[in-house]
Amino acid sequence: MKSESIHSIEISSLSKTYKGRKGKAVEALSELSLTIQNGEICGFLGPNGAGKSTTIKILMGLITATSGTATLCGLPVTDPGARKRVGYLPENPSLFDYLTAREYLALCGRAFAMDGESILRESQRVLELLDLREAADRPVRGYSKGMVQRLGLARTLLHDPDVFILDEPMSGLDPVGRALVKDILKDLKSRGKTVFFSTHITADVEVVCDRVAVIVGGRLRSVDVVDELLESGIEGYDIQVKNCAPALYAGLTSSPKASDITEIYVPRDRFNEFLAHLGKNGGDIHLIEPKRKDLEAFFLDILGKG
Ligand SMILES: Nc1ncnc2c1ncn2[C@@H]1O[C@H](COP(=O)(O)OP(=O)(O)OP(=O)(O)O)[C@@H](O)[C@H]1O
Ligand SMILES: [Mg+2]
Repeated sequence: MKSESIHSIEISSLSKTYKGRKGKAVEALSELSLTIQNGEICGFLGPNGAGKSTTIKILMGLITATSGTATLCGLPVTDPGARKRVGYLPENPSLFDYLTAREYLALCGRAFAMDGESILRESQRVLELLDLREAADRPVRGYSKGMVQRLGLARTLLHDPDVFILDEPMSGLDPVGRALVKDILKDLKSRGKTVFFSTHITADVEVVCDRVAVIVGGRLRSVDVVDELLESGIEGYDIQVKNCAPALYAGLTSSPKASDITEIYVPRDRFNEFLAHLGKNGGDIHLIEPKRKDLEAFFLDILGKG
């Protein structure tokens, strides 16, 4: 099989039932099927307890599915070799906190069979990337939550894997850290890497993801192309027009912005008619800003429909 035809992540009818307290069954995942293409960034959204971490733990071989199958780079997740080319960030990473970041990365590098020179070079690279250079020789036990999260992310990048599976990578990070992680994800995409990450932050999905999968109560509720979803949510446009006749915006909401500029809200279904009108009656477009539902509104809609 040619490598391009192998999907990075293929999840097929995955179900997981945990044994809860007093032996009570907890159905955490039910018949989940999802394919992540090579080179795409897919966000995994869902409310607390939806089954995101359960899915990710099955992919990483940390727990076994009750039924169904999953593959990483064409290999079944039950094969440890499937994770050689994967970078994994767990939810709330707990690292060996008596080690320094540099020692911890060296340990991880050896686990991925990297040679000594690569370990030194790549450790330095990822420590700098995640802004941990100054703390690199201090034991991890003295790190703040966000620093531990950054080290967890640094670890995923160390061996330059092809596939990244990240459970809430922005969790616990300050705005600068979140922006940094978004930049890292965009860079991974530009280098053809595949990223599957869970999050609660819809704004981050909006900025970095190609697709978004929503899971609710262990069941996949929707999978959408983010750009298409956002485009479908355009409700109208705020249009700033220079030197136009008042007749042009009769019946539309308008407000003066400057002596010669008026802002007019044009509903989506009247956009073409408005432009034709503008062409006929004169007036120059100064600015057009689409007014649309954001991903959070879609997410809430999806939850509401349940
Ligand atoms: N070890 C376990 N034993 C029993 N039930 C579990 C176990 N782990 C998870 N669950 C249950 O499985 C369901 C899914 O949990 P999971 O951790 O996958 O959700 P999540 O989507 O990652 O949530 P969050 O957004 O809060 O991280 C929940 O009902 C949870 O209580
Ligand atoms: Mg979770």
